[in-house]
Amino acid sequence: MKDITGYAGKRVVVTGCASGMGKATARLLLDLDAEVHGLDRQDSDLPLAAFHRIDLCDPASIENAAAALDGSFDALFNCAGLAPPFSVTDIMKVNFIGTRALTEALLPRLAQGAAIGSIASTAGMGWSRRIPVHKQLIATPTYQAALAWVAANPTEVAEGYSFSKEAVIVWTMQEAQKHVERRIRVNCIMPALTHTPMMTDQIAVNTSPEMMEQVVLPWGRPAKPEEQAFMLVMANAPAASFLNGAAINVDGGRMAKLVLGV
Ligand SMILES: NC(=O)c1ccc[n+]([C@@H]2O[C@H](COP(=O)([O-])OP(=O)(O)OC[C@H]3O[C@@H](n4cnc5c(N)ncnc54)[C@H](O)[C@@H]3O)[C@@H](O)[C@H]2O)c1
Repeated sequence: MKDITGYAGKRVVVTGCASGMGKATARLLLDLDAEVHGLDRQDSDLPLAAFHRIDLCDPASIENAAAALDGSFDALFNCAGLAPPFSVTDIMKVNFIGTRALTEALLPRLAQGAAIGSIASTAGMGWSRRIPVHKQLIATPTYQAALAWVAANPTEVAEGYSFSKEAVIVWTMQEAQKHVERRIRVNCIMPALTHTPMMTDQIAVNTSPEMMEQVVLPWGRPAKPEEQAFMLVMANAPAASFLNGAAINVDGGRMAKLVLGV
């Protein structure tokens, strides 16, 4: 088959490669003949080119993992994430602060024309209501400074998940402006409820069955991890060379339904 995505032989990094959407992303990239370097805090059973353990809650672990990754890369997939009932601090660390730190550590080693794709969420759909607040967090220069900002702004951050995903979206849009000279594109996807261990072990146990029925409307079922992985892999594909600063809804029409009130 013609390689329309352009991934064959490309060196890519996938965080959260051990489970759910990150695993589906890594698997699809392997199928597309990319050289896949995986990062996760738990082991992966995929036939990766390399795997390194990382704890995005720990700046030293992020530095070590970035150092262990060898050479330059053509794409970074930020798929690792945490949801309640984990602590607000850990959710903010994994979903935004650690993800940003890893991205910054790898940026100098991304090749001309590389791409960065992150998984946000429809939970971040309120991002445009408080861009100045997110700009404050994004302006923090270090991991520790971002943590201090989170501790000082508990009302904004609330339970952490929605805020962390809004932050990923605003950060994506801001980063997309910064690397244009190197033609590095930065995008994210906004999945609706997706059938992964996070859904079964974290989201479903904290959500009533009635609410679970509501959040899958209008399509009537959660997404499959492969359906999310496909869009993320396409967003980072060399062939998607004019896609930059986008937050792509992958939600079976949920956002459109909510916005139009239909
Ligand atoms: N499942 C959903 O309904 C849903 C919906 C929208 C967005 N998301 C987002 O999608 C992304 C993938 O989630 P998923 O549903 O595939 O969940 P998952 O739990 O199956 O996978 C998450 C992965 O992140 C890794 N991870 C967690 N904490 C980490 C840490 N401290 N350091 C390194 N790795 C860590 C886990 O080990 C796991 O492999 C997350 O960012 C999540 O917030 C999920």
